[in-house]
Amino acid sequence: MTGSTSIDEERPAIRTFEKRQLRDVLGSFVTGVTVVTTLDGEGKMHGLTANSFSSVSLDPPLVLWSQATSAGSHTAFRDAGRFTINILAEHQYDLANHFATRSPDKFSGIDYDLGVDGLPLLRDCSAWLECKVVSRYPGGDHVIYVGSVESIRQSTQRPLVFGGGQYLVADPHDLGLAPVGTEGAMKSQPHAVRLASRAMLRLARTLDKTLALVAWGNHGPTVIAWQAATTPVAADLPLGLVLPVTSSASGLALAAFLPPEAVDRFVTAELRDNARQASGEVLPTAESLAPVLESVRVSYVATRRPAPFYDDRMLANAISVPILSPSGMAVLALTAIGPAEHFDAAADGPCAEALRAAAHEISAALREA
Ligand SMILES: Cc1cc2nc3c(=O)[nH]c(=O)nc-3n(C[C@H](O)[C@H](O)[C@H](O)COP(=O)(O)O)c2cc1C
Repeated sequence: MTGSTSIDEERPAIRTFEKRQLRDVLGSFVTGVTVVTTLDGEGKMHGLTANSFSSVSLDPPLVLWSQATSAGSHTAFRDAGRFTINILAEHQYDLANHFATRSPDKFSGIDYDLGVDGLPLLRDCSAWLECKVVSRYPGGDHVIYVGSVESIRQSTQRPLVFGGGQYLVADPHDLGLAPVGTEGAMKSQPHAVRLASRAMLRLARTLDKTLALVAWGNHGPTVIAWQAATTPVAADLPLGLVLPVTSSASGLALAAFLPPEAVDRFVTAELRDNARQASGEVLPTAESLAPVLESVRVSYVATRRPAPFYDDRMLANAISVPILSPSGMAVLALTAIGPAEHFDAAADGPCAEALRAAAHEISAALREA
């Protein structure tokens, strides 16, 4: 019982609901996608897309799925002693749609192998479970089948996901291990990513600058999202691009608000390389870096004056602002990048102001979450 709004105030219970409303609510429960296959008494193959699949027991190994009694293949499954669960891989959404559509011969043109008792195993899936039916239960307009798992296989394909009525792909929630010394602070990072992604859409439109969302990854500042402007700074900005700590606005915005134990290793290596490089660019030194980081801590803005950007293809300016965890550590940096000739990356200009306001708002939301 905290000061937050009660469930009833926020979302009153709907006691008389339509089928569609129930389906929408059930769509909040995200699942994988399977094609369940079997053979009928005449040796004909049947299969349908099903997301009702669920694990039941490890010992003994049991799984379940349920089928609508209205399905064309219902009698085949009702009378069959076996079924095979084909867990679809993330590229197999066409196959999911194919097996979700009634047709006289769903297997024509489909790649499959034959498993135990000749039941089809669809190729290229994420995993397969060959099962013997042990129980059937009526369940309203469905029948629930419980199967004893007799053999299992798994590929390296990532599974397809279904939720909210659409096919999805599964990405890890986390961005890897939290940097040393920031473990607790990084708990708010996934929420920060969601809030920042929304803010980026809005800012890219109003500022018309390419925006990057940068997290501190295993290799230092790492771009985890881009939002292109009408004049993109590059045609093919890759996710996972690792930026320098000491000479990128994003690196500085993050480093200024991370503990030395997370940052020092990268900074030391870069400063050593900077000292060795004889390029025309003025690169930071240990002496020049400390006051720069201090000024970022005061102003909450890091800027980068014209410098070659991504593969040295163009000169770009950048402004970056930190998004802070409730404990004041940088969980993300929100960065605007523009071609040097059009983008005035002043720390007190309107673009810096808009970024700083967005970052403050997200940091405040993280404190309240
Ligand atoms: C993502 C997804 C999940 C589905 N899950 C189920 C399910 O669990 N049980 C079911 O009976 N039908 C489910 N369906 C619907 C069937 O796939 C569809 O009705 C199919 O046409 C049945 O095949 P049949 O008529 O050839 O038997 C699902 C459809 C989709 C797209």
